[in-house]
Amino acid sequence: MTYTFDQYKESADSIRRRIGAFCPKVAMILGSGLGFLGDVVEDPVCVSYRDIPHFKASTAPGHKGQLVFGTLEGRPVAVMQGRMHHYEGYSYEEVSYAVRVLRLLGCDTLIVTNAAGCVNTDWNVGELMLITDQIKIFMESPLRGENLPEFGVRFPDSSHLYTPALQDLARQSAGELGIDLKEGVYMYFPGPQYETPAEVRFARIAGADAVGMSTAPEVIVAGHCGMQVLGFTLCSNMAAGILDQPLSEQEVLDAAEACKEKFSRLVLACLKKLS
Ligand code: HPA
Repeated sequence: MTYTFDQYKESADSIRRRIGAFCPKVAMILGSGLGFLGDVVEDPVCVSYRDIPHFKASTAPGHKGQLVFGTLEGRPVAVMQGRMHHYEGYSYEEVSYAVRVLRLLGCDTLIVTNAAGCVNTDWNVGELMLITDQIKIFMESPLRGENLPEFGVRFPDSSHLYTPALQDLARQSAGELGIDLKEGVYMYFPGPQYETPAEVRFARIAGADAVGMSTAPEVIVAGHCGMQVLGFTLCSNMAAGILDQPLSEQEVLDAAEACKEKFSRLVLACLKKLS
């Protein structure tokens, strides 16, 4: 299906009735491990995805399925606790639906985080990576179908999907906190099966440093509607075939839990620096 501009507007209007004059500037989509940041938002107004027209539920483990509006580090934010994934059965348009709604509500910046498999063999589990670019080939675009010019142009430029100035801000924040922040390219695979070792070798040759099942569709849509984007990956496991052991969801959740303190300090420091 193709959503109409009116449908996005209906969703935004319904949220607007709940949050009144509050105007979020930064939208945050938090993946495995960082959802708890939604719980520390000050003066929160929580809106369940179920109560927003046209929104889909988030069924992935550890994803609460609500939007939290309020302030974090003094910034007015909208935190998505739980995202939608293509592997849950949603189209890319559905996966990225919320981004456009948050844009209509006033957000001009998107911070995305995810857990992903580490493809770069110089790195280790637990590493944090600043996403400098992404690869989402072979898969359909969330922008497929009729273009909605209210959001952006038919053929958007993708030269700087991850905003260079925000990358600088992240490097600076990591330096100040003494956090070793790697940098690299995130490659999207739709899942839900983890990649094969051959796919991971392919990803490495293609220039990827991490592989994961989220983020790329939302970032394409954010770029299309003119949002600045800052993205981070937590390398929760070495990607398939690098170590002689099977991958498991538990490994990903354990790594996310172990790194959440470091990860959240970095994300909050970046948020604080956003003007
Ligand atoms: N591959 C894809 N997605 C992931 C992985 C992985 O190895 N780890 C966490 N999310």
